[in-house]
Amino acid sequence: MKIKSSLFLLVWTCLTLQAQQKKQISPDLIGIFFEDINYAADGGLYAELIQNRSFEYNPAERKGWNSFTAWEYITEGYGYGNISVETSSPVHPNNPHYVVINVEEPGLNGIGLKNQGFDGIPVKAGEKYQFSIFLKQLEGSSIPINVKIIGKKGTVLGEISFDSDSKEWKKYQSEITISETQDSANILVLAKGKGKIAIDNASLFPQNTFKNRPNGLRADLAQTIADLKPKFMRFPGGCLVHGDGLGNLYRWKNTIGPVEQRIEQRNIWGYHQTVGLGYFEYFQFCEDMGAKPLPVVPAGVSCQNSGGTWRIGGTGQKGISQAQMPDYVQEVLDLIEWANGPITSTWGAKRAEAGHTTSFNLEYIGIGNEDKITPEFKERFKMIYDVVRVKYPHIKVIGTVGPAPNGSDFEQGWKFANQENVPMVDEHYYMKPTWFIANQKRYDTYDRTKSKVYLGEYASEGNTLFNAIAEAAYMTSLERNGDVVQLASYAPLLAKAGHTQWNPDMIYFNNTSIYKTTNYYTQQLFSVNQGDTYFQNVISPAGKVDSTLAYSCVKDSKSGDVILKLVNCGKTAKKFKINLSQFRDLGSKAVVSVLSGAAEAKNSFENPTNITPVVSGFKAEKNFSYDVQPISLTVIRVKGKK
Ligand code: AHR
Repeated sequence: MKIKSSLFLLVWTCLTLQAQQKKQISPDLIGIFFEDINYAADGGLYAELIQNRSFEYNPAERKGWNSFTAWEYITEGYGYGNISVETSSPVHPNNPHYVVINVEEPGLNGIGLKNQGFDGIPVKAGEKYQFSIFLKQLEGSSIPINVKIIGKKGTVLGEISFDSDSKEWKKYQSEITISETQDSANILVLAKGKGKIAIDNASLFPQNTFKNRPNGLRADLAQTIADLKPKFMRFPGGCLVHGDGLGNLYRWKNTIGPVEQRIEQRNIWGYHQTVGLGYFEYFQFCEDMGAKPLPVVPAGVSCQNSGGTWRIGGTGQKGISQAQMPDYVQEVLDLIEWANGPITSTWGAKRAEAGHTTSFNLEYIGIGNEDKITPEFKERFKMIYDVVRVKYPHIKVIGTVGPAPNGSDFEQGWKFANQENVPMVDEHYYMKPTWFIANQKRYDTYDRTKSKVYLGEYASEGNTLFNAIAEAAYMTSLERNGDVVQLASYAPLLAKAGHTQWNPDMIYFNNTSIYKTTNYYTQQLFSVNQGDTYFQNVISPAGKVDSTLAYSCVKDSKSGDVILKLVNCGKTAKKFKINLSQFRDLGSKAVVSVLSGAAEAKNSFENPTNITPVVSGFKAEKNFSYDVQPISLTVIRVKGKK
């Protein structure tokens, strides 16, 4: 009897200990943050090849810019006439500027406009491109129009011709097939008959966009992002969201519907946003990648930091007037209805009209972006939040706690979030790699009963392997604290070479090439190896424990796989001991991925694969020790028997 009860006690104690040493963690932990910064959207992910397609660039966006920026007036073969920018009778009042070409004498080849694209127009032999344009015949009869893609030496790489035939605005579209690959072509739109014609919204898209979506995304860049297998995508910013002054807030309704009817605007990062990549396209991209959408709306206040080097203007934080706040709150509610509502609802019907009858399954919404925690902010945040949580109790609202890991906005933001029971708050920090190594215990002591954390922006100020490994060490602590840290995303995601306002970034690109930084590989290794349960007692360093060594063990219940992450930020090889004996449904077959090299090593356009993960097979015993190289991240994925 005595033996039986002590055996029971022993089993019970073992089970309790084991239960204490594992915990459920967020299944959505690793995602991405897309902001239109560094030409990430226009000239970047958004596949439009014509720059300033609707003649809406203006000097308030950048000194010297105007409706003709990126365009050139062309007279070919002794033709003459003139051109002007007009606004009296546009395609749509939201898109007021258009160009009128007055052809007095067409000469041999006509007169018109040449567009240089975004650093040139890259085209590929044999591929088809979708050209479209709005035209309106103002004087004269039908005018023959010739559209040519021309290479560096003036070679015609592809062309189409058609006749204008409408005295009202009419959209013309046609495919152009390219005969020769060129990195930096131009496009010419020529009027070849006497008369006056108005033109607007000239557009050229590769037919091969990501998932072949119309008005779609650059396929190679979108695929590089999709390969991260993010669990969520936050968009469209960043500072872009709360903008430079109240007139520059990112208003989601301005970004949906036919592109020629969207309201374009200045980008706080010193350029122009066509919003051709708008809310529908963001949600569609999320769905195409299998990522949950996480839109961020302004909290009714503008960016307190506007006015810095890149942020032309600079009104600082301003609040939407109390009189206008009810409409603004409704705008946020409408977004949720647009994303999730039935097609019988007002906004659900608009989503369906755009081609998506089913819900986008919106679960998360961010309100505010690292706003200064002022009375104006708090009042407006609360007005929005109080209504959203009542009308949509299942939507997880994410609040904001400033731009730094500590300090006044951080403290005030947290205090406010806890007071208002905001489900989650968005922390941001850009710090040195040594900070990330030294602060791995940050979340160990966070109060589990308070708001959860979305680490919405973080990076270790560099693209060397040491940066990536320091971030990996920190990410093991995010997994360990995956019960309180629910979501995390590195920032910024994209940067176009020669057009960056922020460095470092995760993915660099130009018109034809892309390179993935070492930081990309860290993100990818964590993202494709996420789990939903964290285990405390599986890994231990074999020698002296110090902060240069980090590790985590998670299990993915869908596959049954157990995933070990071992990080060494130090300069010498180290050993870990691994004990898998508690996992009954585990085989010994494992895949090992190792990211390692010299601390200062980087990838670049010249050497894009200098540092990439090396993958190999491995037999994982129930107990084994594993040597990790200096400056390395090792991921061991042991296959479940499922
Ligand atoms: O990620 C770049 C910028 O950093 C974001 O726009 C802003 O939220 C933060 O200051």
